[in-house]
Amino acid sequence: MGCGRRGRLLAPHRRRQFPLWEGIRVSGSIEYTGTDSAETEPAGTGSTRTESAGTVLVTGGAGFIGRAVVDAALGRGWAVRVLDSLRRDVHGDEQPLPEGVELVRGDVTSLDDVRSALVGVDVVCHQAAKVGLGVDFADAPDYVASNVLGTSVVLAAMTELSVARLVMASSMVVYGEGRYRGAGGAIQPPPRRVEDLEAGAFEPVDPTTGLSLEPLLVHEDADLDPRNVYAVTKLAQENLASAWTIATGGSAAALRYHNVYGPGMPQNTPYAGVASLFRSALERGEAPRVYEDGGQRRDFVHVRDVAGANLAAIDWTADHPRSFRAFNVGSGVVHTVGDLADRLSRYTGGAAPVTTGQYRLGDVRHITASSARIHAELGWRASVDFEDGMREFATAPLRAAVR
Ligand SMILES: NC(=O)c1ccc[n+]([C@@H]2O[C@H](COP(=O)([O-])OP(=O)(O)OC[C@H]3O[C@@H](n4cnc5c(N)ncnc54)[C@H](O)[C@@H]3O)[C@@H](O)[C@H]2O)c1
Repeated sequence: MGCGRRGRLLAPHRRRQFPLWEGIRVSGSIEYTGTDSAETEPAGTGSTRTESAGTVLVTGGAGFIGRAVVDAALGRGWAVRVLDSLRRDVHGDEQPLPEGVELVRGDVTSLDDVRSALVGVDVVCHQAAKVGLGVDFADAPDYVASNVLGTSVVLAAMTELSVARLVMASSMVVYGEGRYRGAGGAIQPPPRRVEDLEAGAFEPVDPTTGLSLEPLLVHEDADLDPRNVYAVTKLAQENLASAWTIATGGSAAALRYHNVYGPGMPQNTPYAGVASLFRSALERGEAPRVYEDGGQRRDFVHVRDVAGANLAAIDWTADHPRSFRAFNVGSGVVHTVGDLADRLSRYTGGAAPVTTGQYRLGDVRHITASSARIHAELGWRASVDFEDGMREFATAPLRAAVR
């Protein structure tokens, strides 16, 4: 049962009543979708547990990943409420949320909005964030407000309303350049030098020997090394969640997603992921432009699998009070950015990719995670094969363009 609020009250406990939906625009029916019917099992769940008859609040539930989480939660019998500000810089004219899902249009930085959205909630799945690399450093206050202040407000309101279970979206960006094997063993190299990038020498080298390094899979216990503002805020979100579990006895799982792709990805905005940028180029009849030499190693994980990982983590929080745990979420199969461009060109029948040799400062060369922990502890494993996922994604609808 999704019963975080019953019998597991946080101390010190302050319960206040808030008028439901006061001052908040709510659309959609307040009727719940069949609470006990687990008609569709989301892909990649891997969990044998059946959780039912609870209410989950999905912050950012109108977004790319949030919508997939909403669908997966409905399929597992959860009543679903969404808190989303529908940011103008990420949303165009879009499909409404599924029938029976309550939408609270509000901001995670507003205590009143979050309090209202939390009434009657058992578990929070916190996806809302300002995402991507942004345009320039002037974006920093906006990242910090949405992601760091926003998470602190969500946690404060959860404490006040005795909601003790959190799953939050984190990212592989917390690891920085990833992990490599050099002459002296495993190392995390410093940022690549501009002179090397200018010369087309893209592979990180061992700072002591100057020789090439062998990329390894990153485990959750690796040193964290956020290298841009977005990454700093994702790590701060994790740190806040961890501090909250210590202070309140709550349970928090941080899911460090790899590169997520799939239907509903945002189109060509400064915040879109590389898969969506390539897709958008192909739709315009242009070739995907691949930075560096296309050899950057990544793990592309399908959005339905990521949603399944969230459901498995929601189950985990029911049994792990006073715990914070981070889990990598990847497909477990390494590909390159060049592979991605190649498959999307092939499956759309579009122009062949162009490898530009250009680079972006702050980009990491290789980052691939081990998803062994989430498989061992949560029973989750990705189920969408890269070729199948790319074939589907090549023609799947993207999120409406921002006006
Ligand atoms: N897409 C990826 O590859 C990826 C990878 C790693 C981590 N993540 C994380 O996954 C989560 C979801 O990302 P996404 O790709 O679906 O992004 P998205 O932009 O599609 O969705 C984010 C949603 O949050 C909402 N939002 C933003 N700021 C808000 C605020 N202050 N208050 C309320 N709502 C707000 C937006 O309106 C949007 O609907 C984020 O936390 C992101 O950091 C995404």
